[in-house]
Amino acid sequence: MASTLFTPFKLRDLELPNRIVVSPMCQYMSVDGSAGDWHLMHLGQFAMGAAGLVITEATHVSAIGRISPRCLGLYSDENEKTIARVVEFCRKHGVAKLGIQLAHAGRKGSSLPPAQGGKALTAEQGAWKTVAPSALPFGPGWHVPEALTAAGLREVKQQFVDAAQRAARIGFDVIELHAAHGYLLHEFLSPISNQRTDEYGGSLENRMRYPLEVFDAVRAAWPKDKPLGARVSATDWVEGGWTPEETAVFAKSLKARGCDFIDVSSGALDPRQQIPFAPGYNVPFAEKVKKEAGIATMSVGMITRPRQAEDIVSGGKADLIAIARGAMDDPRWAWHAARELGGEAPYPANYQRCTPAVWKP
Ligand SMILES: Cc1cc2nc3c(=O)[nH]c(=O)nc-3n(C[C@H](O)[C@H](O)[C@H](O)COP(=O)(O)O)c2cc1C
Repeated sequence: MASTLFTPFKLRDLELPNRIVVSPMCQYMSVDGSAGDWHLMHLGQFAMGAAGLVITEATHVSAIGRISPRCLGLYSDENEKTIARVVEFCRKHGVAKLGIQLAHAGRKGSSLPPAQGGKALTAEQGAWKTVAPSALPFGPGWHVPEALTAAGLREVKQQFVDAAQRAARIGFDVIELHAAHGYLLHEFLSPISNQRTDEYGGSLENRMRYPLEVFDAVRAAWPKDKPLGARVSATDWVEGGWTPEETAVFAKSLKARGCDFIDVSSGALDPRQQIPFAPGYNVPFAEKVKKEAGIATMSVGMITRPRQAEDIVSGGKADLIAIARGAMDDPRWAWHAARELGGEAPYPANYQRCTPAVWKP
């Protein structure tokens, strides 16, 4: 039987050669939001053929929307120039399609990179004022954010639009809006972080309003032939938080507005979360969203083995699978999976001679 993992998948005018995606991975190697040589190496290695689509790390739409001072951004001409250099490099030497994850960290901004402890920055370390739906900190010891006013909401929406226009100029194939992991858009969705009493808080319809407005604005600014998707956390894994049922409703609303795929992750909104980590632990959520919202889904989280990935897509549980740590561990994951499953993955010209049929006894 032919491998489903290695069949093409179409999103608008974009055809991915296979169903494998390299998941966004923050690198904490940027200066003032700009990319450097590290990004050439990091994204370049994946562009060589690890997957059909490679998505950049969370790329923030403003300086205060960054998670840490070392996070990538797309809010200045310099940011745009440095990311364009990386994309040009990946296009020249690689074979994968390229996506960008646009993000705003909300109340989880102004923190140290995980390798330095991941805690909120102190004033001496250059802390900045964070913003969120409500003035509620992520957890003990975290910044108390400023609740966004009507003007603030307009400003952040415009920042997403400006970043999308920059992404279009750079020539990315796909945008993924980051509405997961406890960052700004997820903070609007969850009743734990959103306790507003205006039209952006309370009912599910109200909590979805701002993320949907941002989606509409980005969709209008992004070329019609190019796919736009969103990453969501399907559950907060906390009693009283955002649920898989609400996620399916949100996905349906996004689909009606022209969303092309939902990348289904979970958690990271509240430190009280209890996540039952196990292989493919987010797969049932992707399956639910796919069935109930009738939209293409990407599943992510502890998908490590080719056969496991094949079963997910051939079983109709998700259309695409994303791998993060597995791709760092083995940047040629897709080539090795193709060998195991009898599929074909693209190779760049200079590496054609390493295909096993050519040299392996
Ligand atoms: C180093 C690292 C950085 C990450 N940065 C991001 C990010 O920028 N945006 C995002 O949505 N998820 C991020 N994640 C989460 C991954 O994309 C992925 O969802 C998670 O690691 C589970 O997949 P895995 O089991 O294949 O690693 C990051 C994960 C790792 C390990």
